[in-house]
Amino acid sequence: MSITILAIESSCDETSAAVCKDGVILSNIIASQKIHEQYGGVVPELASRAHMQNIVPVVDVALKNAGCSLQDLNAIAFTQAPGLIGALLVGGQFAKSVSLSLNIPLIAVHHMQAHVLANLIEDPKPSFPFLCLTVSGGHTQIVLCESPLNMKVIGQTIDDAAGEAFDKTAKMLGLPYPGGPLVDKYAKEGNPDAYKFPEPQIQGLDFSFSGLKTSILYFLNNAGSSNVYKENFSVNAEERQQFIDDHLPDICASVQSRIISILLNKLQKASKETGIKDVCIAGGVSANSGLRTAITEMGKRNNWNVYIPKFEYCTDNAAMIAIAGYFKYLENEFSDLSVSSTARAEW
Ligand code: KG4
Ligand code: ZN
Repeated sequence: MSITILAIESSCDETSAAVCKDGVILSNIIASQKIHEQYGGVVPELASRAHMQNIVPVVDVALKNAGCSLQDLNAIAFTQAPGLIGALLVGGQFAKSVSLSLNIPLIAVHHMQAHVLANLIEDPKPSFPFLCLTVSGGHTQIVLCESPLNMKVIGQTIDDAAGEAFDKTAKMLGLPYPGGPLVDKYAKEGNPDAYKFPEPQIQGLDFSFSGLKTSILYFLNNAGSSNVYKENFSVNAEERQQFIDDHLPDICASVQSRIISILLNKLQKASKETGIKDVCIAGGVSANSGLRTAITEMGKRNNWNVYIPKFEYCTDNAAMIAIAGYFKYLENEFSDLSVSSTARAEW
């Protein structure tokens, strides 16, 4: 019997629905919520309302593009955690209604595990065990994946996530939210060695980005003074802006280069310690062109097999929820209707 799964993702500001049949993605529809741009960040209440408006049309298109109807579904999967609670509840309640009305199993999926499993959507796929650098707006983790449903976090950020480092840098530079893709864009035209930002000294496989954020703030407030830690500001707002306008590509390239080196140095350490050479990236920041190039080059130097999901499977999407749901279906890992959405979730 073939297995057709409808999946819903609504953890933050993308409303997404996907259909997968026997582990093959047939459709993946993503409605991005533009409303948050004017506020410089995601407004939780507005995200929930936008999910409410988007969810039915997004599911309709996903089913239509997959060439199937509700009656063809064998299960419904949804993002249960982590994320914005109001946003998660919209997808969760929708999934429960579908499960109840069609009398099909409900599958609760962990958003971060699904990001990792995005690497198993298309060929070539990593072999188990593999390492995954999962970098998003809220998380930065090195995950050791033994099998689709058996993974553990072996390193993580102790403060900001890599995506936050990108977004906060963009905000300091006066770029609109979400700034990560814009930093990426300007970095392409800049010199990554123009400015040297400090590398944090954190033990083990954990990360830290808050010191970098502070050093960028002081650096900008001093209009590029070589002493990036100097706190007493030497320039006024106008001079600060002029410095940014004159050097935007170099600043973006230098910050991006430091974020990438922080990430990849720890990934290299994890590979050395575990002896694992199948290495993946996942999450919104894995869409970063500099990171994609740098991990490919590091892979060549270290004899790694590097896997990078295509762009639409890096940022939030329901295809990754569908593939995670498929693996859970195969193991009969179903939830009952009492399962609740949660903003935070350990694993
Ligand atoms: O995985 P994701 O879509 O949502 C979360 O689960 O958080 O990740 C969103 C994050 C944001 O911080 C965004 O700025 C960042 O991914 N991002 C990027 C790029 N595209 C998205 N950061 C750097 N370069 C990019 N091209
Ligand atoms: Zn995500």
